[in-house]
Amino acid sequence: MAHATVEPAAPPPQTRPPSGLAGVVGLGVAVAVMVAAGLTALTDARPVTSLGLPDPGVLTNVGLPAVRAGTEALMVLTIGALLLAAFLVPPQRAGYLDVAGYRALRAASWTAAGWAAGSILLIPLNVADALGRPVGEVLDPGLLLDLIPRLSAASAWSLTALVALLVLVGCRTVLTWGWSAVLFGLALLGPLPVALTGHSAGGGAHDIASDSLVMHVLAASLWVGGLVAVLGIATTRGPDRSSALATAVPRFSRLALACWLVLAVTGVVNALVRIPLTALIGSEYGALVMAKMAALIVLGALGAAHRRSSVGPASQGDTRALLRLGGVEVLLMLATIGLAVALGRSAPPDTGGVPSRTEAVIGYDLSGAPTLARLAFDWRFDLVFGTAAIVLALAYLLGVLRLRRRGDAWAAGRTLAWLAGCVGLLVATSSGIGRYAPAMFSVHMGQHMILGMLVPILLVLGGPVTLALRALPPSGRSGPPGPREWLLAAVHSPIARWLTHPLVALALFVGSYYVLYFSGLFPAALPQHWAHKLMNLHFLLVGAIFFWPIVGIDPAPRRLPPPARMGLVFASVPFHAFFGVAVMSANTALGGEYYRSLALPWVPDPLHDQQLGGGLAWAAGEVPLLLVVIALLVQWSRQDERSARRDDRRADADGDSDLEAYNAMLRRLATNGPPLVAESDRSRHGSGHTEDIARTTLDPQHDPSDSDSAPVLAAQEQDQTSVDGPRGARSGRPLVARRHPDRDVE
Ligand code: HEM
Repeated sequence: MAHATVEPAAPPPQTRPPSGLAGVVGLGVAVAVMVAAGLTALTDARPVTSLGLPDPGVLTNVGLPAVRAGTEALMVLTIGALLLAAFLVPPQRAGYLDVAGYRALRAASWTAAGWAAGSILLIPLNVADALGRPVGEVLDPGLLLDLIPRLSAASAWSLTALVALLVLVGCRTVLTWGWSAVLFGLALLGPLPVALTGHSAGGGAHDIASDSLVMHVLAASLWVGGLVAVLGIATTRGPDRSSALATAVPRFSRLALACWLVLAVTGVVNALVRIPLTALIGSEYGALVMAKMAALIVLGALGAAHRRSSVGPASQGDTRALLRLGGVEVLLMLATIGLAVALGRSAPPDTGGVPSRTEAVIGYDLSGAPTLARLAFDWRFDLVFGTAAIVLALAYLLGVLRLRRRGDAWAAGRTLAWLAGCVGLLVATSSGIGRYAPAMFSVHMGQHMILGMLVPILLVLGGPVTLALRALPPSGRSGPPGPREWLLAAVHSPIARWLTHPLVALALFVGSYYVLYFSGLFPAALPQHWAHKLMNLHFLLVGAIFFWPIVGIDPAPRRLPPPARMGLVFASVPFHAFFGVAVMSANTALGGEYYRSLALPWVPDPLHDQQLGGGLAWAAGEVPLLLVVIALLVQWSRQDERSARRDDRRADADGDSDLEAYNAMLRRLATNGPPLVAESDRSRHGSGHTEDIARTTLDPQHDPSDSDSAPVLAAQEQDQTSVDGPRGARSGRPLVARRHPDRDVE
């Protein structure tokens, strides 16, 4: 990754966060804390007492939201700083972070320390809140260790604390771009446990509530944290300032718009899951939601002002407008986080109606047994995978469009395969299959087969990496590395190389079936909405890792010859078939307790439904494998054709030097040793005869379809019986041939 200014392999000098910005951020965090604490006190939000539990006291009632707001503010600042270090400013040529990146990494270590401390504090606070006891009474380590795993909020903050600590240690130890990108990915996991507990995790439509809140909090983290990090560069005075700004400001500006849109959509979706539009007016919860909407609109206006007046000058180094607007924006954003925490603490208005058992467990009701019509038409859009399928399809089509505009060709078959893969992803997660999968083992297994086999095969046949590398502009030697270089780094990374090792890919592909279903993981995962998401993601990724080196169009870190790839496919078949049989013949239902708790009238016996699922796994699994074998055979023959064409072109270009060399060897043999083929034969069959035999032996690549010597070779065929020449010995390929039809065309 190229960068012009700093010498390679020189870690940048020690830096401290600029005081001006630290002041604004410090103030912002304080505002978030005060808004959360103030609003909670004002709305008297004490969720536990409303459930009839004793009051844990003011320290918990106000302390918890205050600490939560402060911790969440520090969490988004950490994510933003790592975003900048990894993707908004260029690293040094040698791969070390440059000054701006290193400074952001150091700033992230400070905020991560605060994030970790706040998360640890929130553990006993949440235990106290859940038990309705003063926090001082729950600080007994034994009690905490016993209760944390049983209380979702407390275990969520323990996980978040662990992530924050890992990020803190990482920020203090890594120096390279690669690792800062890994740290960024790790930090993005931080908000997930929090978003997946709380209001969103229970009750009706908790699937949509959880998915929307995860996307909501991630968008807020990238937007708020990214802005603060960019302002961090604007307040520095170093030599790298202008080049860092020139890259960071336009990149962040594009990201900011996307985050604003995601925040607006997911915020409204999440709010509407909780309260009907009519309740927006007249309820505390509704008032807080409207306040957030107002905040987002104001922030949007500030964003537009940035685009009009600050982004351009800031990219050139003049950051006055950026700092003026940015300072106000950061304060408003952090205040909105405080508002959000208060919202999360206040009870949504009671919409009456008790959710049914199915609704309480999976988030929605099922209208009856899964008929074909219901599986086909009873859709429930999956906010995560449904959106991903649409975004993947659109991004691919944009790439193809860009190639077309440049006059470059792109095989229609690849586009069709990719779009079919995206449709498969959408149908498997958002049609009736996606609706029934969390409630029935058989439908879940059907979904597993589509996501684990069919969709990955179609997606890797689309060649997305090749398309991206051709469609994305290269950064060039002096330009800051961009998406194209990041993709290349990912494809060539040691982890990609390790994962696509045939044995690793095979072990992951077939092993994860057995580990997931027969290790007790599956029953534990069933009641958790997020675990269903994780299972689907796992099926997709493991399928892609397995099928990429086998039939993938994109160059994989390891390329196996076609026979080895065929072997890998057939090696997976018995494991797959045995898995289906094992599931079918099991005596106890996997996750029986969960399926019985749903008490679906059309699933009187979960074991019977499991047998259906096992049968599906066994039968359905063969279909995609057939698709792979066909694709592999087509690719194999095409590869042969290509190498034949290449050989022909080379033979044309160098007057067939291989054949010449072979004939020379034969001539040497003829003069030095007993004649393989008598010269006299040569006169009888014309000049090319001996050469061709030579070529076949030495260069298995040689294509005997070379019409120059075709007739000769054919003749030689017949003679073979008597001479028993090199053919049998080496190539083992028939010598029948004619000149390749389109050789001259190319
Ligand atoms: C249209 C505007 C917005 C709406 C309708 C909205 C709505 C919501 C809703 C309904 C929740 C879940 C609260 C609960 O658990 O009951 C939430 C959480 C959250 N929102 Fe927003 N939001 C909006 C804008 C924003 C903005 C602009 C930010 C940040 C700058 C933001 C940051 C957050 C955060 C951090 C949470 C998680 C809070 C927590 O659970 O601790 N939201 N939002």
